[in-house]
Amino acid sequence: MTSIMKKEIFEEPGVVKHLLDSYVTDENKISIDLPEKIDNIVIVASGSSYNCAAIAAPLFIEYVQIPCEYEYSSEFILQKKHFITPDSLYIFVSQSGETSDTLKALNIIKEQGVKTMCITNSKDSTMWKLCDYKILSDAGEEKSIASTKALTAQIFCSILVMLKLVSQNGVDISGYLNTMRRLPAYLERIKIDAQKIEQAARLTADFQNISILGNKNYYPIAKEGALKMKETCYLNVMAYPFGEFMHGHVAVLNQKSIVIAIIDEENAEFAMRNLKKIKDEYNPKIICITSVQDVKSGDINIYIKTKRKLKAIFGSLLTLQLMACEMANLLDKNPDSPKGLHKVVKD
Ligand code: AGP
Repeated sequence: MTSIMKKEIFEEPGVVKHLLDSYVTDENKISIDLPEKIDNIVIVASGSSYNCAAIAAPLFIEYVQIPCEYEYSSEFILQKKHFITPDSLYIFVSQSGETSDTLKALNIIKEQGVKTMCITNSKDSTMWKLCDYKILSDAGEEKSIASTKALTAQIFCSILVMLKLVSQNGVDISGYLNTMRRLPAYLERIKIDAQKIEQAARLTADFQNISILGNKNYYPIAKEGALKMKETCYLNVMAYPFGEFMHGHVAVLNQKSIVIAIIDEENAEFAMRNLKKIKDEYNPKIICITSVQDVKSGDINIYIKTKRKLKAIFGSLLTLQLMACEMANLLDKNPDSPKGLHKVVKD
């Protein structure tokens, strides 16, 4: 029987298509309301939504050239002072719009009169009502406790906010929007390649010591892959930035282990160099999830063909989500209702 989680992963191309239809016009305008002036952004969230923040923040810095920080909600509320200017925008990302830690963070910031925005899947949620600016991530009801399609929708909406700011800087965004328009078909193709992903899941499910490596925007994707495998398979999977992994963490490979490496054009040379060192020294099993066709250093190489980072982010994410779901099935766990977890985390 197909799990709800798998069904929801398979809905992702449709979710993206729906968001394109809702927010992007044929004239390349993005119909999202933003404050007139923003000079810095802070994104606050928990769990998968935090990983969305960590994927989005470097994109705001790289493409918009605006300072952008991100923080776990639970850490944010423990901090005594926050960085605020009259033109700060605080963005709260939440599937449910009801997570206690994120709501507390939102209330702290609201008390200080700062402009707030939410990206949430839940219209009329408490966050939706409290925020000055709101974006409905509109992935449809997400039943599986492990978030998949809702996260894809959040990342997509964050990219739309980013592109809107880029266009407000006077840059032509039509090329970027065309890339985003091709995303649904791209994700459909990855779904069709699911056999390779199943093969990778079968190999990974044999291990208790799993490390997922990625750089920059792909490090939070590695973290999300680890979170999905923890939630659905109860395995202690760790994620690391490639270079940092070599600073001692690599010693975990002295145990029977597997490494999952996310590799794109930007980090290919660096990643391959480190993978070679890892192989020579520890000889773990290796799976590469890569948008670079020449990368063949894994025992299994999953090719997520694209030259565009804005597409590869989603391709690598969907691949790891599917792997986690398949692994849960192989390990006889129910990926839809992991033991001890709840869809909304409240006090
Ligand atoms: C994701 O798979 C988790 N179930 C969990 O980390 C979740 O993302 C987190 O609790 C935040 O939830 P929210 O997006 O509804 O705020």
